[in-house]
Amino acid sequence: MESQVLKDKVAIVTGAGRGIGRAIALAYGREGAKVVVASRTQSTVDDVAKEINDAGGTAIGVACDVGHRDEVFACVDKAVEAFGTVNIVVNNAQGFGTEADPQPSTVFVACEDTDEVEWEYTFRTGATASLWFMKAAFPHMKKSGYGRVINFASSSGQIGFEGNTCYNATKEAIRSLSRTAAREWGQYGITVNIINPALETRAFDKWKAARPEFVEALKEKIPMRRLGEPERDAGPLAVFIASEGASYITGQTFMLEGGMHTLP
Ligand SMILES: NC(=O)c1ccc[n+]([C@@H]2O[C@H](COP(=O)([O-])OP(=O)(O)OC[C@H]3O[C@@H](n4cnc5c(N)ncnc54)[C@H](OP(=O)(O)O)[C@@H]3O)[C@@H](O)[C@H]2O)c1
Repeated sequence: MESQVLKDKVAIVTGAGRGIGRAIALAYGREGAKVVVASRTQSTVDDVAKEINDAGGTAIGVACDVGHRDEVFACVDKAVEAFGTVNIVVNNAQGFGTEADPQPSTVFVACEDTDEVEWEYTFRTGATASLWFMKAAFPHMKKSGYGRVINFASSSGQIGFEGNTCYNATKEAIRSLSRTAAREWGQYGITVNIINPALETRAFDKWKAARPEFVEALKEKIPMRRLGEPERDAGPLAVFIASEGASYITGQTFMLEGGMHTLP
């Protein structure tokens, strides 16, 4: 076990079956948090929970589709049932495409051709799901006087990358939601922050496959001259934001992109 800066804190990480969510769940487990590993696929969340438990940590896997309100509230209930409270929520999951035809990443669609079914699903699994988890966890965070919400957005939304209308809009809604809750909930010892990542994951690989030249050129533009890796780069940042040491930082967007966008 390492420094255990999250000892006995209870954390829910959504979209934790692979990619960034998995890396954060593993890092939280190493730091002593009791982790609820959540995503749609029971077998993958069970595998990640087992990895944490085998390494000496404490975790359970919970199948939860964040696009379904009842499953979100049930996930928080399961965390409380298993571990007594909820201190940390990482809203990392994000749906793409439509519920009937989910996609692994964004698919280029011109703004004027935006599919309203995709718009609804992208918002439901993005901004709305984040709000649901925040509402469900808030009473527990307020009662314990220790709350950390980490929401996932994207520089695609800040910049307005072409072809990503639904995704960009929900990600910017998530940032605005986060800033609002940060201002309201600071008085209760709850921080709400945002991570905008650029890390190699399955979603990223699918995006890269569709736009290989763009992604190759991207590497040259990143000051650190590499693409980020979930375990190396996302785990440590998410541990810090969730820790006591970050109690004076709220409403902020952390650009986990190797310096790709140095926005004012
Ligand atoms: N990778 C990047 O460079 C990048 C850039 C900007 C923003 N982001 C954001 O970072 C977050 C994580 O992305 P990632 O690259 O790690 O994705 P990923 O590798 O595709 O992993 C996504 C995870 O989310 C789960 N998931 C998908 N839909 C879900 C739903 N409706 N309910 C619950 N879980 C769901 C998936 O598992 P199941 O299929 O089992 O549910 C999987 O565990 C997302 O919010 C994404 O928009 C990533």
